[in-house]
Amino acid sequence: MIVLGIESSCDETAVAVVKDRKEVLSSVVASQIDVHKEFGGVVPEVASRIHVENISYLIEDALKQAHLTMNDIDAVAVTKGPGLIGCLHVGVQAAKTLAFAFHKPLVPVHHIAAHIYANELVTDLHYPVLALVVSGGHTQLIYMKEESSFEILGQTQDDAIGEAFDKVARVMDLGYPGGPKIDKLAKQGKNIYPLPKPKAKGKYDMSFSGLKSGVLQFTKRCARNHETYNDADLACSFQETALNEIFDKIRLILDDYPDIRHFVVGGGVSANSRLREKVEELKDEYPDVTFTVPPMACCTDNATMIAVAGTIAYEHGVRGDASLTADSSWEI
Ligand code: KG4
Ligand code: ZN
Repeated sequence: MIVLGIESSCDETAVAVVKDRKEVLSSVVASQIDVHKEFGGVVPEVASRIHVENISYLIEDALKQAHLTMNDIDAVAVTKGPGLIGCLHVGVQAAKTLAFAFHKPLVPVHHIAAHIYANELVTDLHYPVLALVVSGGHTQLIYMKEESSFEILGQTQDDAIGEAFDKVARVMDLGYPGGPKIDKLAKQGKNIYPLPKPKAKGKYDMSFSGLKSGVLQFTKRCARNHETYNDADLACSFQETALNEIFDKIRLILDDYPDIRHFVVGGGVSANSRLREKVEELKDEYPDVTFTVPPMACCTDNATMIAVAGTIAYEHGVRGDASLTADSSWEI
């Protein structure tokens, strides 16, 4: 089965063609980072206009690179949500037009499910699965008893982890997007600055806004007292505290749910090198669980994962029709 996937939920316009869940025939991504970094973050109206400008070229490129035409495509999958509403509409309208003009099934895809299913490109998933989703908009620990079943066990009560990385990077004047900059800087630093340890109410829930404010207070206090601090040490202290918050909760869940066979990670922050190291550490502690992290190119937003998730949703009978519309806060 050959599926064309379309992604436009935030600041990446992307189109991909995937055969039988696993074989990537083509994948093209147009990132808008260079435009938005001038503003220090994504400007939704600007983002949706650029999606409109790019989407047709990307569809053409993805088909050309796969050496296919729309006649060879079995279904069109598209991100319905969650994401920025104006951005999502661009992808949804493009997908609807293609599907109806070429008489193809249309499959709405959940962006977070797609981040999880990106792991299908590495290995088959063995259920029950525990999925950690860490992106600019989400931080969730999701239990999947079987394919296409999602139960949120824990999530952030305030900022998403990627958002915290980006905000801390802004406080430290490192530029946008901050995640990769903090990741790189933290490698040269030590975890020596005491930052507030996050406190979330639910057993598996997480919190990052207190930590983010803690970094801001710390820099302000240093400025007031005419003290200097080491950028690399602050990046490392923040990153370590934030990741420990997540990994404490992962351990609690793995201890409480001994039926979990497979742990997977998805979302932009899964590109973080320290997070990947910490997943490696878990392997020794839980030898009965398989641990998978998606390939770097599939961590941040792309359409390969939309095509994979679209294939799975199609197999589970999910279809869209003329009434399909974007949903910025679509629940998984
Ligand atoms: O999944 P994604 O591309 O978009 C959303 O759906 O939000 O994730 C983007 C987020 C940004 O906050 C970015 O700073 C973060 O992923 N990110 C990282 C790294 N690479 C991207 N965070 C930490 N370390 C990284 N290496
Ligand atoms: Zn994403």
